[in-house]
Amino acid sequence: MKQHLILIGMMGTGKTSVGRALSERLGLPMTDTDRMIEQTTGQTITQLFKEQGEQGFRDIETQVLSQVLAEAPRVIATGGGIVLRDENVERMKQRGWVVCLQASAEEICQRLAGDTNRPLLHGDLKQRVRQLMQERAGKYDFADWKVETTGRTASEVAEEIEQWWR
Ligand code: S3P
Repeated sequence: MKQHLILIGMMGTGKTSVGRALSERLGLPMTDTDRMIEQTTGQTITQLFKEQGEQGFRDIETQVLSQVLAEAPRVIATGGGIVLRDENVERMKQRGWVVCLQASAEEICQRLAGDTNRPLLHGDLKQRVRQLMQERAGKYDFADWKVETTGRTASEVAEEIEQWWR
């Protein structure tokens, strides 16, 4: 049964900040899968990628997602790559209403400049963001609703999602 409000989208589209704002507006708890991964493993995302590789990280992410989906209704902010595994997509569709946050490549680069805990962003930031966007084209399309976040605050985006949700 669907019970959660799940935010998906590329890195830097504001899933965590919008998730927090939404959780306050809706009076629901909020879980960020990346933070939960760091809490349960006691390691940062960067350390996990280094020690276990991307597939090791994806295994933990898949496990954490199914744990969160089994909890009481909440707002869930996911990691940008959660959609790479079909089993995650199927579970999210079954258990929640899925909202995809979008932003232009330029805006994503501005928001992520200087970030040190996103191991997939190595080398030239602009090139890498464009490459990931291309590789993942279509992967976020299963969302029930899509929201543009470019040039907007988390609170404005949360308000739009709340109106759609209620
Ligand atoms: C990833 C996105 C990150 C984090 C990890 C991998 C991705 O989360 O899960 O660095 O593959 O897009 P955010 O989307 O919160 O940055």
